[in-house]
Amino acid sequence: MAERAPKVLFVGTELSPFSKVGGLGDVMGSLPKALLQCGVDVRVVTPAWPGVLQKVRDAGYKIVTGLQHVTVACAWRTVEAIVHRVDDADGVPIYLLESEYYNGAMYPWEINAATVHPFMIFCLQALELSRVTEWEPDVFHCHDWPTAFLPCALAWHHHYHHFVKQDGTRPASVLTLHNVAHQGIFPPGPFFEESGLDRSCFNMGGIEFYGMINLLKGGILSATAITTVSPRYAWEIQTWESTEALSGVLYNRRDRLNGILNGLDVDYWNPATDPLLPECYSADSLDGKTACRRELLKNTGFDPEWKGPLVVSVSRLVEQKGFDIVLPALKQIETLGAKFIFLGSGHRWIEDALRDAAVLHRDSLCFFPGYNEPLAHLLYAGGDIYLMPSLFEPCGLSQMIAMRYGAVPVVREVGGLIDTVVDVDAEGGGNGFTFLTYDTQGMFWSLRRAIERFSNIRAWDKIRAKGMREDFSWEKSALLYRDLYRRILKEGG
Ligand code: ADP
Ligand code: GLC
Repeated sequence: MAERAPKVLFVGTELSPFSKVGGLGDVMGSLPKALLQCGVDVRVVTPAWPGVLQKVRDAGYKIVTGLQHVTVACAWRTVEAIVHRVDDADGVPIYLLESEYYNGAMYPWEINAATVHPFMIFCLQALELSRVTEWEPDVFHCHDWPTAFLPCALAWHHHYHHFVKQDGTRPASVLTLHNVAHQGIFPPGPFFEESGLDRSCFNMGGIEFYGMINLLKGGILSATAITTVSPRYAWEIQTWESTEALSGVLYNRRDRLNGILNGLDVDYWNPATDPLLPECYSADSLDGKTACRRELLKNTGFDPEWKGPLVVSVSRLVEQKGFDIVLPALKQIETLGAKFIFLGSGHRWIEDALRDAAVLHRDSLCFFPGYNEPLAHLLYAGGDIYLMPSLFEPCGLSQMIAMRYGAVPVVREVGGLIDTVVDVDAEGGGNGFTFLTYDTQGMFWSLRRAIERFSNIRAWDKIRAKGMREDFSWEKSALLYRDLYRRILKEGG
């Protein structure tokens, strides 16, 4: 008898292309489509942050509202959200929850019992959603600390601890760790009164963390299964004596932890069809890439006919991405004989330092502050070398996008960067340039190797073509997720 398709609800706070801060948005927007194609009955729920409903309409999707509400009880109040359903052309139903709680910025700068409130409410709403959809998930698939409260609620909430499906069985939960550096840690304060969790989970084997609440830790300990976004990062987070300090907890849960490499939406990130590029191209016909390069150079004020190497970066401006080794290197930027173009937003101090450096080295460096999707596409397409010297990197999608667009990555040997980039000087050749030691010299060494190799046209074409032909689709990884759902459902959630 054919196995019943697992019913999986993706519960996440970002969804590309409507609400995206980084790679989490990309994964939420692409993995469900790949799962649907391999026989998973999948749906997505996400908050309707400001502007999201309009973006969905602008993208040409139909929104069905039908006066449906989902109601949850929280700290003696009832909180309502309007449920909007998006009819997605790819067939994955998406639910957008509209509520006064999702009227502000997506993520708070300061984490405390008040600022995590919208995220707890969102998780409870996801649990209640089946009342209006008449579609009951077997698995709630949550992502990072903002939705780690959901498995905690299934385990320790006064009410949801008893949550069962209509057939009397309990739903399972999967928590994907996209970034263990963010855990949702704050002093308990009124947390237990407000969240509905039983105070008995405030201990080492529960949500307590050095006297504080740690939502991610609670999620790791209560989820049926945990995944993270590359096999290498799965190993690192169990072994590192890192500031993240959850390595012991993760090591103890290693039988439940799976490292599954992220893929890309290869239809969206495709230089052969990308509508955001001035000209399209492929590995077999690169003329369009030259046109993109010229367009990019025009936007920067550099000479559009510059023929030397163009180093690009599209990044959140945060410590994780290696800016403390990049910034000192900029002092010697003129010695490299390359031009640099950075696009990014994030910490003010990094933004200011890049702005200052761009003024000081105006012939070699251009910085675009902010988040800009079309410009990001042009940087990937126009660039020759993609710089990503991360301190840590759970997976990284940018290096994969860069390779697909023919920009050869220079990366640090860490996390998912190791799982996707092989040094060109390794036995058998590779698709990029890597270095291990986290310092400016290490990065410079690899960057110089890349710049020198660029002048050897034949060698460069080979490296670039290898990257452009890699399979970065979700195909293999979606099957691994499907098998994981099937396994945990067989085990009984
Ligand atoms: P992270 O999720 O840690 O930021 P990833 O490499 O997994 O890193 O994903 C980053 C995603 O966000 C990529 O799709 C990248 O193109 C996009 N991105 C990052 N910063 C910007 C920006 N300033 N403008 C446009 N896109 C950006
Ligand atoms: C996080 C990580 C990044 C990963 C992305 C998607 O933002 O920093 O490495 O690619 O999530 O999983």
